[in-house]
Amino acid sequence: MTSPRHYLQFKDFTAEEYDYLFRRARWIKDKFKRYEPYHPLFDRTLVMIFEKASTRTRLSFEAGMQQLGGSAIYLNTRDSQLGRGEPIEDSAQVISRMSDIVMIRTFEQSVVERFAANSRVPLINGLTDELHPCQALADIFTFIEHRGPIQGKTVAWVGDGNNMCNTWLQAAEVLDFRVHVSTPPGYGVQPEKIGLAGDSHYKLFDDPMDACRGAHLVTSDVWTSMGFEAENEARRKAFANWCVNEKMMAAAAADAVYMHCLPAHRGEEVAASVIDGPQSVVWDEAENRLHAQKALMEYLVLGRVDENTGAPVKRA
Ligand code: CP
Ligand code: NVA
Repeated sequence: MTSPRHYLQFKDFTAEEYDYLFRRARWIKDKFKRYEPYHPLFDRTLVMIFEKASTRTRLSFEAGMQQLGGSAIYLNTRDSQLGRGEPIEDSAQVISRMSDIVMIRTFEQSVVERFAANSRVPLINGLTDELHPCQALADIFTFIEHRGPIQGKTVAWVGDGNNMCNTWLQAAEVLDFRVHVSTPPGYGVQPEKIGLAGDSHYKLFDDPMDACRGAHLVTSDVWTSMGFEAENEARRKAFANWCVNEKMMAAAAADAVYMHCLPAHRGEEVAASVIDGPQSVVWDEAENRLHAQKALMEYLVLGRVDENTGAPVKRA
C-alpha cells in the first residue's frame, strides 16, 4: 500500500500545487454557482473529528463533501472513544479502514502527525494549536479573487503569534510574499516550532501601525484562541493596542483588504467600522472555505483531474 498524501501544514504542498488547487477551487465554485451538479467523490466518506468547537470548518467540510457526491460523518471527543483514552494510533487504524478521507481539529500538532502516520487515507488538519492550513488556503484564494496573485505582496498580521499567524508565515515562504508581524510582548511568533526555512519572508514590528504601513492585506484574529481561555483576562490587558482600526487601515495600501478567519470580537482584535467596512472581505473569505476545501478533498482523494472536465487523469 502506498502512503496517502496528507494536508497537515501549509508547507505540505508546493507553489505549483497551490496554483492547481486555486484553479480547481475557481472551477468548482463556478460550477456550484451555476447549480451544475459535480459528484467526483460519489460514494466516498469523509470522517470529521472535532476536539474543539467549530461553525465554519464543520459546515464547509460537511456541505462540501455532500456537494461532491459523498457523505460526511461527525465525531467528537465527548461522544466517541477518543474522549475515553483510546490511543490516537488505534483510532486512526480503525477510522481510516471505514472512510476515504479524514479531517481532524485538535490541540497539539503531534496528534495530527500521529494520526497520519497510522492512517490508510488522506488526513486534513482542520486546526491545531500550532496551525490552521485550510483557513490560509481559503484566505489566499480570496485574496487572488479580489486582487490577483499574492506573490510579492505584503500581509500585515496584528495580534497573537498563534496558529493563524504561524500558517501565514509558512504560506509566505511557499508562495513568496512577506508578512509584517506585530504581536504584544510575550505573545510573539515561535518560528522554530513551525519549521520555517529562515527569516527572509517576515519582519517583526513593535507597533501594529508600522506593520500595517503599505500592506496589501491586513488580518487579525481572536486575542484568546481555543484552549487558552484561562489566559483570557491577562490577554485582554496585553492586547488592548492590537485592535485593527481605521487608522491602521489608512496606513495600509489604498486598495488593502481586511481579513479575519472568524469568529470575530468587534472592539477587541478589530473595530466594527473595519470588519463591517468597505475594505473587509470576511464573508467571501468564510464562503471560500467551502470551495477551497472541495478542491483540496478532490485533490487528496483523486489526484489531478482534467481541468476542463473534472475527469480523472489516467496515469501511465
Ligand atoms: N475560521 C474557522 O475555522 O471557524 P470555525 O472555528 O467556526 O470552524
Ligand atoms: N486562532 C483561533 C482560530 C479560530 C478559527 C483559535 O485557534 O481559536
